[in-house]
Amino acid sequence: MRLSAAARNYTAGMFRPPTSEQPLKLNFNENNQGISPLAHEALLSALAEVHRYPDRPHAELTVALAEHHGVGPQQVTLGSGSSQIIHIIVGAVARRAQDAGQPTQVVMPVPTFDAGASAAAARRLPVQAIPLRGNLEADLIALQAACEDFDGQSVVYLCNPNNPTGTVVDSAELRAWVEAAPQTLFLIDEAYVEYVTDSRFQPVDAWVRDGLPNVAVARTFSKLHGLAGLRVGYSLSSQENAALFATFLPEMPVNLLGLLAARASLGDTDFQRRSLDQTLLARRRVLDTLDRLGLRYADPQANFVFHELPAHLGGNRSYRQRMRERHVIVGRDFAAYEGWNRLSLGTPEEMAHVTAEMMQVLGQKE
Ligand SMILES: Cc1ncc(COP(=O)(O)O)c(C=O)c1O
Repeated sequence: MRLSAAARNYTAGMFRPPTSEQPLKLNFNENNQGISPLAHEALLSALAEVHRYPDRPHAELTVALAEHHGVGPQQVTLGSGSSQIIHIIVGAVARRAQDAGQPTQVVMPVPTFDAGASAAAARRLPVQAIPLRGNLEADLIALQAACEDFDGQSVVYLCNPNNPTGTVVDSAELRAWVEAAPQTLFLIDEAYVEYVTDSRFQPVDAWVRDGLPNVAVARTFSKLHGLAGLRVGYSLSSQENAALFATFLPEMPVNLLGLLAARASLGDTDFQRRSLDQTLLARRRVLDTLDRLGLRYADPQANFVFHELPAHLGGNRSYRQRMRERHVIVGRDFAAYEGWNRLSLGTPEEMAHVTAEMMQVLGQKE
């Protein structure tokens, strides 16, 4: 495909030190490297077609994702971001249980990504929030016990890797539980799957391919692909579950631009490789800095790092304020982890700048 000059230059942005007008945003786990040049080109071409409904692009992205993951197109559910996918899956499973006269609960580690809890709250479903283990990994044994104690339908919402900690659970242990609990629905959120380097991890699309009926995996184009603003997510599940989920979605939940950009980005393995390499380089740079500062961090398997703050800083809010004064926006509050910060990873150049600032702020003695 021939690229316009604008598209060629799109991802090559030079680093400029942040200012008060243009602070460096490292608080939403976005991809500061921008998007695939092929996706950029697809977006420009799509402008000529926005007066049309996107039925064909919808079908084409569905088929492309099915081929990519080795499942049938009837097992793919597209949504407006994986947040929507999480909401509709929780709602659909609760409705199915209700029709069968069963109550539903949502079981999840805490802290984790908000979508599971907000989906439960929207349907007034009880949530069992299970604290993380000491190493900041999800506690599979306690999560399992919470399901076994419940007489009804459990939906386990598990982010793997978890947000905000970035940790993964052991896939072999998780699979043993999934196979032993056919009545439980496992909603595995793999928003950050591409960044995992831990060999204990196995992506769950393989389990859907293997025919495990009680697993639905949620994926997104918002992270590695950098398309957060276009809101494209999807799930893979059994054909029966996908048919159920579809009844809770409008006909074409993703808009034309999102569909075409996602499809182009899915085919741009060069961009994906570059995007991943740059983020892993940035991650290494941050970990080296934290090591130099002697600060602990959770094992990071995503595009952010959850790290400890020195006690004398006066907590998360005060740290955020000090970084804000340096035009860097980091983290937010996570209940029970007051002295910890979640730092999203920007480009290696941005992180060189940020780690220098961190040395100044975090390295200061009382
Ligand atoms: C674990 C997790 N899942 C899902 C999402 C949201 O993805 P989307 O933009 O596809 O709604 C996020 C966003 O930060 C996330 O951290």
